This record gives sequence, C-alpha cells and structure tokens, in this order.
Amino acid sequence: MATAFELDTLKIRINDSEFQQLDLHQRIQRALRALILEGVLQPGAKLPATRGLATSLGVARDTVENAYVQLHRDGYIVRRGGSGSFVCERLGPELRGAAKRRLKVQAPEHLQLVPGEGLSQRGRMIFDSGGVSDQQVVKAFATGLPETRNFPVAVWERLQRQVVKDYRAHILLHGDSQGAEPLRKSIATYLNLERGAKCSPEQILILSSTRQALFLCAQLLVDADKPILMENPGYFGARKAFQAAEARVLPIDVDGAGLRTDVLLADRSGAQCVYVTPSHQYPTGVTLSLERRLALIAWAAQKRKWIIEDDYDSEFHYEGQPTACVQGLDTYHRTLYVGTFSKTLYPGLRMGYMVLPPELVKPFTYARSVMDGHTPQTLQLTLARFMDDGHYNAHVRAMRKLYAERRAVLLDAIGTHLNGIVTALHPPGGLQIPCLLHAGWSEADTLKQAASVGIQLSGLSRLYAGEAKQEGWLLGYSSLTAHEIESAVRRLAKALAQ
Ligand SMILES: Cc1ncc(COP(=O)(O)O)c(C=O)c1O
Repeated sequence: MATAFELDTLKIRINDSEFQQLDLHQRIQRALRALILEGVLQPGAKLPATRGLATSLGVARDTVENAYVQLHRDGYIVRRGGSGSFVCERLGPELRGAAKRRLKVQAPEHLQLVPGEGLSQRGRMIFDSGGVSDQQVVKAFATGLPETRNFPVAVWERLQRQVVKDYRAHILLHGDSQGAEPLRKSIATYLNLERGAKCSPEQILILSSTRQALFLCAQLLVDADKPILMENPGYFGARKAFQAAEARVLPIDVDGAGLRTDVLLADRSGAQCVYVTPSHQYPTGVTLSLERRLALIAWAAQKRKWIIEDDYDSEFHYEGQPTACVQGLDTYHRTLYVGTFSKTLYPGLRMGYMVLPPELVKPFTYARSVMDGHTPQTLQLTLARFMDDGHYNAHVRAMRKLYAERRAVLLDAIGTHLNGIVTALHPPGGLQIPCLLHAGWSEADTLKQAASVGIQLSGLSRLYAGEAKQEGWLLGYSSLTAHEIESAVRRLAKALAQ
C-alpha cells in the first residue's frame, strides 16, 4: 500500500456502488479483500498501519481496525505484533483465480461451465423443456389472464390486517401442510354448493397452484417411464409437469363432446391416470358430455384408475350454469379434483387446491410437506375470510358479467376484421376464444406477422402432442377492455393484410 496509486485504487473501491449499502468499515474490508483477490496486493505485501491509513482515508482509526480484524479472521491477512499486517502468503492461485472470474476474465476452456452441466438426466430434461413462461404484463391477447385492475384490493387489505391481528402468534409459526382449516372449510362449502362437488374439509389440500398439484400427481401416481394419459390438444403446463416426473405422456383425442372416451376405453398402455379439463376443455373450450363423464368414471372405477380433473375456470360459464364437476358424480372416489384461484382472483396470489379421495390425503400431504411445507398462513386465512364474507362470490359474479361482455366484443371484432382468415369457435365459457385458420394461412407466418406489430399470439399447434391437427390461435380477452380488444384486433388484421 506504499504507493499513492494503490491508495487511490483503494479509495475508488471503497466507493464502489456494489458496497454502497454497507457500513464504512465493511466497505474498507471488502475493498481491501477485492484488491488482494485481484492480485493488486500480492501475498506477503505489507498493509499500511491502521493509524496511517485512517488518516489517508479521513476516517476514524477504529474503522480501519475493524476492517483489519475481519480480514484477519477471514484469513486474508496475518497480523504480526510489532511489525504490522501482511497479505497472507498462503493465498493460493485458486483463490486469486476466483477473483479474476468475478472480474469476468474467462476461466480456461476446460474449466468453463456449460449450460446444463452437472444436472441429472431429469434435470437436463426439465432444463431443455424451457419451463413454463407466465405472462407478467397484460398484453393482447394474453390467454387465461383475469382482469386485475378492478380487484377489490382495499377489502383484501382490510381482511389481511384483521387476520394479522387475530392470528398473530399463529401465523408467525409454521402452518398445517394440508392447509389452514378455515380455508379448507370455506373451499369445501363453496365446491359443494357451487360446483356440485361432494367433499369434506378433510379431503382438501391447499397448494400454491394447479401446476404444483399436477407435479404432485405425477410424483405420486406415475413411475418414471410409465404412461399417463392426457387430452390432445391439452394444457402445456400439465404436459410439462408430467414430463418433469419422467412420465410418458400419451395423447387421447378430443372432439366436440370433449375427451374421446371410446379411445380411452380402448387404451392398453397400462396408464393409471388420465388428465382432463371437463368443464371447459383446454384449449377447445368444449364441455365433456354427461354420457362421457359417466363412461370416464366407470372406466376409472372398474379398472382402478385415477381421474385428474382440472377445473381451472368453470366459474366463467356464459350460457346457463356450468356442468357440475366429475368429482361430485364419482361415488367410487377415483377423482382427484384440482382447483385454482389464478383465474377467479389473480394469478400472483399463487393459491390452488386439490380435493383428494380420502386414502390419498396423507400421501399427498406428506409429499407437500417435503416439497415446501405449506402455503403462507396469512394468505390462506385472508382468503378464507374473503370467501366467508361473500366477497369471493360477488367478485366472481362481477367478473363473469364483465368477461361475457368482452367475449361478445371479441367475437364481433373477429367477425368484422378477421373474416376470411379465421373462424372463431364459440365455447360456452372460459377466458379465451380458439380461432381456426382458413386454408392458405399458416400459423407460423401469422404469429410472426402479429409479433411484428407487438402482438404475441398463442398458437394452437404447440398444444398438440406430435403433429398438430389444427392450426390457429387462442385469443385471450378477459384482461383487456372492450376498447383494447377492438384496437388490438384492428392492429392484427392490418398486420395480416400486409
Ligand atoms: C388448463 C389450465 N389449468 C390450470 C391453470 C392455472 O394454473 P395455475 O394454478 O398453476 O396458475 C391454467 C392457466 O393458464 C390452465 O390453462
């Protein structure tokens, strides 16, 4: 530290923005450490006396002393009584190499990390799948996103404050892995009344999301390399969750009445489960007919299989009442019902749940306890109050009315501006409209043309296992105002006309 240059270097380092949040003695310590690691201060180099350095830096001597004490404790310097402080001689080249890498100097080629390195085969497969990218901003025509701009935030905040006050000691500790009892009660009451389910609070498992539920299903019900059946086309989140457990996902086609149970009944793959979206099939929006629901349940009962029923957005049904869920019809307890608050409330909440056959409650709860313990207590208890006080039903009613209007606006705009390009299907519910491209139009090309005007269209092809049977788009409308829908459709039509 003898030269003025090194003192200046140290001063610059102390003021490094990386260290801004730290106390002064910590900044001096970090700066000296960095200079040691970078080789500016070589092993054996003498550090200035604390008094001298304090004067040069214009700080109290204690401040420098504290920095030296820490450097000494960490093994960067040695302090010899009477002769001063020295950079430790034993600091090997590896340690200094670490600093070089921090400075973005490339490690030799044979030591460089490559993406995916060190992962298990399963880890590599998950990495290669690219995960699921959720929409973090509202854009035309984001699929499955609810309107969040008029969520009753003030009511939610008030209830959350009440919960913190009433359950203070309780919420600061761990909660039940199965979920908070008040919320399990509220959900069971809601499902039995509104969804025609037949369940008790003891059958409910509170989770973070549908995807977590599907991940657990795959972990607990399907061995690696064994088959699981899934609707085709179907929800990419489900396919990825099953694949992440190394299950072989086998497609079962869907037609105008939902999952083709004739194909299911003919299945000889040995699969133990089938994943279905009976209320509004994703992405076609069709409702599974009663006849097929009964066939599905009979198949599961007789062959001792499981039905995974994903009831993600049945609350938003615009033509009469939504059909009651399969779980309520299934007296054999072969159905694992999955629900989410991502659509009815808001996706950032991360709250979902399962209704489990009684004998599966413990295995699933144990698996959840291993995975991440439980869902945050405050959120669960706030949601329970939100439901019990009637806010949940009121919000869903208001949103259903709003989405029905927006759906009509989108169908109108498609008819006016995209006539001859796509035919819109008219599913009885849901938060998106499937649009089938006419002959002569390519999905890949239209997606590119839309992207050129800032519209991220969701293609139908990627929802098929293997070759797509139908090209087209899935247009979400629920998070857009009528004006936003109209102007986005006009913009899209203009881009496609070029
Ligand atoms: C078919 C289907 N199930 C479930 C969900 C909800 O997923 P999560 O609860 O993981 O947000 C979605 C969301 O897009 C979906 O499309």
